[in-house]
Amino acid sequence: MEKTKLKKIIPKWKIKVKVRQLGKRITKDYKDKNPILVGILKGSFVFLSDLIREIKIPHEVDFISVVSYGSEKKASGVVRLLKDLSSNIEERDVIIVEDIVDTGLTLNYIRENLLTRKPKSLEIVTLLDKREKRKVKIPIKHIGFQVPDSFVVGYGLDFGENYRNLPYIAKMDERK
Ligand code: IMP
Repeated sequence: MEKTKLKKIIPKWKIKVKVRQLGKRITKDYKDKNPILVGILKGSFVFLSDLIREIKIPHEVDFISVVSYGSEKKASGVVRLLKDLSSNIEERDVIIVEDIVDTGLTLNYIRENLLTRKPKSLEIVTLLDKREKRKVKIPIKHIGFQVPDSFVVGYGLDFGENYRNLPYIAKMDERK
């Protein structure tokens, strides 16, 4: 029987401190602007909901949802749009909010797609970065934490729709 062990790698308090810092930077960078924060569903919804409460300037929130073909733990780069934005982002300052960048293929697809809509600016903030696995170069403005090349869950990130509710980030360690 397969057993799954979770090892906490980023505690709740560290996430809270980091999200506050990121919120402060966005508040400063977008002063007198009215950015649209685009959360990539589903993984980013916990991060996004905490992040916006640390942003002290007017802003809007929208969501986009994509499905990346491949196995549960491995992206293929073939991406299909499941839910598009509700807003028109032409001439708007857009901030993509991602939970984790792994190969970068999903984010690259979304970035290219949003750029065709001619936003005034487009920046990316991700809570987690698994740099070792990157396959495409993407400009990421703000990174919360670097994580090792293991599958991580919690704080919105799932494995088979489980563990999104964990208030911390944990590494999955599978044992047979
Ligand atoms: P990428 O296209 O390989 O960068 O994969 C990005 C997407 O795959 C993320 O938005 C997550 O939904 C998912 N993903 C990648 N690595 C992990 C992980 O370690 N835990 C949970 N989801 C992951």
